Amino acid sequence: MHEQIIEQRAAALAAIASAESLDELEQVRIRYTGKKGELTRLLRALGNVPPEHRPELGRLVNRARDEVEAALAGRREALKARALEQKLREETLDVTLPGWGPLPGRRHPLTLVLDEIQRIFTGLGFEVVEGPEIETDYYNFEALNIPKDHPARDMQDTFFITDDIVLRTQTSPVQIRVMQERRPPVRVIAPGKVFRVDADVTHSPMFHQVEGLYVDRGVTMGDLKGTLSTMARELFGKRPVRFRPSYFPFTEPSAEMDISCIICNGDGCRVCGYEGWLEILGAGMVHPQVLQNGGFDPEEVSGFAFGMGVERIAMLKYGIDDIRLFFDNDIRFLRQF
Ligand code: DAH
Repeated sequence: MHEQIIEQRAAALAAIASAESLDELEQVRIRYTGKKGELTRLLRALGNVPPEHRPELGRLVNRARDEVEAALAGRREALKARALEQKLREETLDVTLPGWGPLPGRRHPLTLVLDEIQRIFTGLGFEVVEGPEIETDYYNFEALNIPKDHPARDMQDTFFITDDIVLRTQTSPVQIRVMQERRPPVRVIAPGKVFRVDADVTHSPMFHQVEGLYVDRGVTMGDLKGTLSTMARELFGKRPVRFRPSYFPFTEPSAEMDISCIICNGDGCRVCGYEGWLEILGAGMVHPQVLQNGGFDPEEVSGFAFGMGVERIAMLKYGIDDIRLFFDNDIRFLRQF
């Protein structure tokens, strides 16, 4: 019995020292000092021991149990402290990290370009006006010198609502509406949506144009060139521009304005089709018939007009190669502006 007490005491103390968790420690407690534990069993067995050995063995087993209980308590505290420490370490929160901050929205690239164009022209004394997106055949075509059988109608794949009502294919009809309402001088730009049956990487069935119209006594091609060159310089920085003869039914003479290629600076590259130039707008001196349709006397006044595609300008300005990106509204695209 004496030896058994010594052995169980040593075994219990060793098990306590190597218990690595509170659960494990509880198992050790049950095994040695629980109701059916080894030391409890030895304590009970004292009854069977000869009376003369009882006091000595009793002291021995009681002391062993006290020591084991003290060791259990000590180990329990140590394991608890360790568990707490670990929990604190895992849940550490660095309150000095910077916060997220508000995520502000950005303006759409087309809005940026449109705002820029409006800023430039209002600075030159132009007023911003708007016209309807659903137009009559008269304003979209007839009044602009494009009669029913005119080949220029083929250039604009029109969405018809009825034979006589269309989604406007251009902002040019606003020219007529403005002239009918005003007396010279007229100095307006008309931004807005236009629609054509067309879709690929550079064409979208809905896109935006900015129309411009300046009518007064003695307006000349020089005014046209000066105004549009100024605009190009503001939009794209100082770079060469050129005016090329062109044809539009509602202007005579007509021209297209090019800027030297933004990518290759005129050397020729894929973006400019190895021309060195990028077309950015159509323009011309308002056709006498169109002035008349607007209620103006072509003998008294003259004017220039122009029209440009906002998506095209934004694509050139920001180096965007697919028009559909403007309308997908992928936040990763939009955040870049
Ligand atoms: N409306 C023309 C188009 O959509 C662009 C245009 C060209 C407008 C010449 C004009 C102009 O006012 O004078 O292709």
